[in-house]
Amino acid sequence: MIEQIQQIDEATNTVTINSEKELEAFRLEYLSQKGKLNTLFENFKALSGDQKRDIGKPLNLLKAKLENIYQQHKLLFTEKTGFHDFFDTTLPVSAEHKGSLHPLTIVENRLCEIFFSLGFDIATGPEIEDDNHNFGALNFAEDHPARDMQDTFFTAEHVLRTHTSSVQVREMEKRIPPIRLVMPGRVYRNEAVSSRSNCFFHQIEGLYIDRGVTFADLKKTLYYFVQQFFGPGTQVRFRASYFPFTEPSAEMDIWAGTETEDARRLTKGTGWLEVLGCGMVHPNVLKASNIDSKEYSAFAFGLGIDRIALLKYGIGDIRDLFLNDIRLLSQFRGL
Ligand code: DAH
Repeated sequence: MIEQIQQIDEATNTVTINSEKELEAFRLEYLSQKGKLNTLFENFKALSGDQKRDIGKPLNLLKAKLENIYQQHKLLFTEKTGFHDFFDTTLPVSAEHKGSLHPLTIVENRLCEIFFSLGFDIATGPEIEDDNHNFGALNFAEDHPARDMQDTFFTAEHVLRTHTSSVQVREMEKRIPPIRLVMPGRVYRNEAVSSRSNCFFHQIEGLYIDRGVTFADLKKTLYYFVQQFFGPGTQVRFRASYFPFTEPSAEMDIWAGTETEDARRLTKGTGWLEVLGCGMVHPNVLKASNIDSKEYSAFAFGLGIDRIALLKYGIGDIRDLFLNDIRLLSQFRGL
């Protein structure tokens, strides 16, 4: 009998009920007079006292769980009202319903793991930055139009960092090469919000400084991460680009395809999704942090975690990542 209880318990862990019809089917299968739960209770009556003691608790837990599932969905289908009607905060909590990691956290962890496997270490820095770490030390000249590449939120004395490249500078200031780091974090830009762009998002910065580091090392590292993360055979392309802190500079796109509507919207119909900027660190940037650019060379990259998450999980709109809608988040349980 305990096996039957476990079976039902497992079968209902991942149950999806999308309509009143499906809910009624659920009720008939489990909760009706002739349903599985009642059958178990009928059998329970015939057990000896000892057996009853062992079985009683799991059976009652199962009953509470099934009724809970039923009631929650019933509310969902019968009342189109606000949060407080939807969640009855007085109901007992089901032990099954543990929280889950946010999809962005899952992607960030996985990406960092891939770079750890290549010998990268991790560092983080502040979200409220000074002009020097966000711009100056990264070779943005005082009045250079490149500052406009990133619409910045300013306070009187500080900026909300527009990229995680600021953390590169902080780490170069306090370490001596060789340096091999990934630096994840949240960044802010004063941008028009749309399905592809938000006024804050997440990046992972990468930095590798050593003697004799080349652009070939950069490409190999990035190819490796793409194949590991998206699977072998994933297509990428590099495009020449411009950043004040790298020379030469490039951007890398991933082939998302044009088959699904989400992929078409995300890629503006081209099939290619830009996921990162990269390049060989500009000698001025190394110099600004007292690293001898004659002895050392370096590559760097900054990749957008949010877009990668959209692509990986087929989420069509970047804003969905920040609504904290339980119907989206619960799909990531156990990942
Ligand atoms: N900081 C750039 C951005 O936010 C991305 C980037 C480009 C980072 C090139 C880098 C790099 O480290 O080398 O758009």
